[in-house]
This record gives sequence, structure tokens and C-alpha cells, in this order.
Amino acid sequence: MIHRFSMLERALLSMNVIPHPFVDAGAMMGLNHALAAAVRLGIVDHLGDAPRPASQIAGDAGLSEKGTTLVLDCLEALGYVARVDAGYAFTRRGRKYLAAGSKDGLRYFIQFCDWLQRGYVDLDETIRHGRRAAGSMIEALGEREWELFSRAMIEISSTNVAEVTKLVPVPPGARALLDVGGAHGQYSIALCERHPGLTARVLDLAPVRRYADECIARHGAAARVSFVEGNFETEELPAGNDVVLAFNIVHGMDADGNRALFAKAHRALRPGGVLAVLDQVKGTGGSTQLARATTSFMALNLLHQASGTTYSHEELGDLARDAGFARTRCKPLRSPGFALVVCERR
Ligand SMILES: C[S@@+](CC[C@H](N)C(=O)[O-])C[C@H]1O[C@@H](n2cnc3c(N)ncnc32)[C@H](O)[C@@H]1O
Repeated sequence: MIHRFSMLERALLSMNVIPHPFVDAGAMMGLNHALAAAVRLGIVDHLGDAPRPASQIAGDAGLSEKGTTLVLDCLEALGYVARVDAGYAFTRRGRKYLAAGSKDGLRYFIQFCDWLQRGYVDLDETIRHGRRAAGSMIEALGEREWELFSRAMIEISSTNVAEVTKLVPVPPGARALLDVGGAHGQYSIALCERHPGLTARVLDLAPVRRYADECIARHGAAARVSFVEGNFETEELPAGNDVVLAFNIVHGMDADGNRALFAKAHRALRPGGVLAVLDQVKGTGGSTQLARATTSFMALNLLHQASGTTYSHEELGDLARDAGFARTRCKPLRSPGFALVVCERR
């Protein structure tokens, strides 16, 4: 992300002397493709802490030196690599997000965004009609895309699982948690680790089971966290829960879909239980550019992928009240534009 400007650049940008579309349409497009290519073509697999010449990196990756050098220069402009002597090495940022095996890596997320981007050729149709032309992104996923999607979700959840786990108000004595569209189950696993009396069911579609099983096994959580194959849109939710999670789910549905989901979640909770909704929530994070960019781009993206959108706390509060919840509270996350909305059932 370009985020450091000289004083002169800042002044010229604020006076619209440097044309913003040069960056918005030009530089962002080129840099984003360079980042995706660096991951897709394995350039990042041949970078490390010690500087390496572009010719060696290109040779190891089976690519042209010319193309590889230009991609590396783009990564340098983004702050992921530094040019040292005649070679390129990861910066701290590059090592954190792009190195193989980094616990904070976002390589699948980058590749999933790259795949999503190819579907943007139809964006005009979505904008014309106010909804995706046909089906949803989920229906377009093949086996490889399910892997990119599922592993991207694992990566994203890893960025905030510790923060979110502390914010979910698990009622005293709670025993059962249902993680609706819970995918990998990382939030369920962490909540069970934090609350010893809790067991969790992760409800999701069949192709996701292997990634949930993988995460559950990695954390040794099989005794308390299980995967349940199901469809939250067409089926009733399993009943008898103290906590229901709907994390990154409501943005994938229109208001009618969410009205039905909130009602199902209410029926699936025992009295005193809570529905916790995590999403990009319009109006959180103040009016910073990053918060507004996040909720606005996600709204357009979700409209295009699934005829969904992003909602404000007020809109989510209305959905919750209509479903019978007594009170909602909005807890902003560190990441601008993200928030946890807690809905309490009496
Ligand atoms: C954006 S991901 C969120 C995953 C996880 N909750 C998180 O926050 O990291 C949405 C998840 O919902 C699942 N999903 C979408 N539609 C579904 C449906 N109708 N029934 C069950 N799961 C669904 C997807 O398979 C995917 O795993």
C-alpha cells in the first residue's frame, strides 16, 4: 500500500496537482498485478533475508530476468522488498506477509483476490441491475478456488482471532456455540480454548470440511469442536445454543436473506444467549479514508460476488430487533471498518 509521501507530495496531492487517477487507476492496478504475479509465479519463494540478484531469483523461478526485475521493483515500491547492493531481500513487511511458512502470511488471500479480480469483467452488468447477473461467487468455485477461498479465510481470521475472541461476550455457564458459515472454525477453536465449558459446531458447506478438519486437528480440538455440513440459507439452524457466530456472513446476503438469518439465529439460541456478528460495518472506524474505503469496496465487491452489501450498526440493529433480540452493541475492531455487533437474546 502506498502510504508514505514527502511533504511536497502531500501538498501537491491535497491540491489535486498530482492527478489522483494516476495512482487510483494506474499505479494501484499495476502494483496489485505485480503482487499477485510475485505470489502466483513463485518469485516470493526465492526471496529471503539475504539479498539475491534478480537473475538468480528469476533462474530459480524459471522466469525471465527482465520480467522478474520489474516485479521486484514493484514489490520494492510497496515496501515488501529492499534493494541491497545488487540484490533484493525481504523487508520485515515482506517476510511477515509473503514468506513461505510465515504465521502471518497472506499469500492465499492475495491469490484469491487475484481470482476474484478476473470476474470483474462483468461488473458493469452488476451495477446496471443492482445485483449479480446470475448465481453467486460460491457457485463458480472449483476445487482449486475452494482451496484459495478457504485458506484465504484462515489467513484473514488469523489476523484478528485473538482480538475477536476477547470481545465475544460468552454468557456465564455457556455450553454450546454454533459457528454459522464458520469455515475453518478458528474462531470456535479459540473461543473453546478460552471458555473451558464450551463446545462448538462449525456449520458450513461440504467443500469446506477438509479445511475445518485440518484446523481442528492442528489445534488438537476434536473433542470440543466439530464440523456440521449444512446450508444456513435453505435449512433451519441446529437449536440449543448459548452463542451463535455469524462472521463475515451478513455481507454476503441482501436484507431479506439477513432477516431470515437473524430469525433463525434467534430460534437457535437459548434465552440469555448472544448472536455475535463480525463484518465490515459501515460507519465504524470514524470517517477515516481507510475505514470508508474498506466498507465501500467490500459493499461493491459483495454486491458483485453475491448480491450482498455492507451494513451499518443501525441497519444490523434493526434486523436484530425485528428478529426479537433485545439489545445490540457495536465493538469496533483494530482493523478500520471492521466491527463485532453483539445481539442479546432475553
Ligand atoms: C466469507 S466466509 C467466512 C468464514 C468465517 N466465518 C470467517 O469469518 O472467517 C463465508 C463462509 O460461509 C460459507 N457459506 C456461504 N453460504 C453458505 C450457506 N448457504 N450455508 C452454509 N455455509 C455457507 C462459505 O462456504 C464460507 O466458508
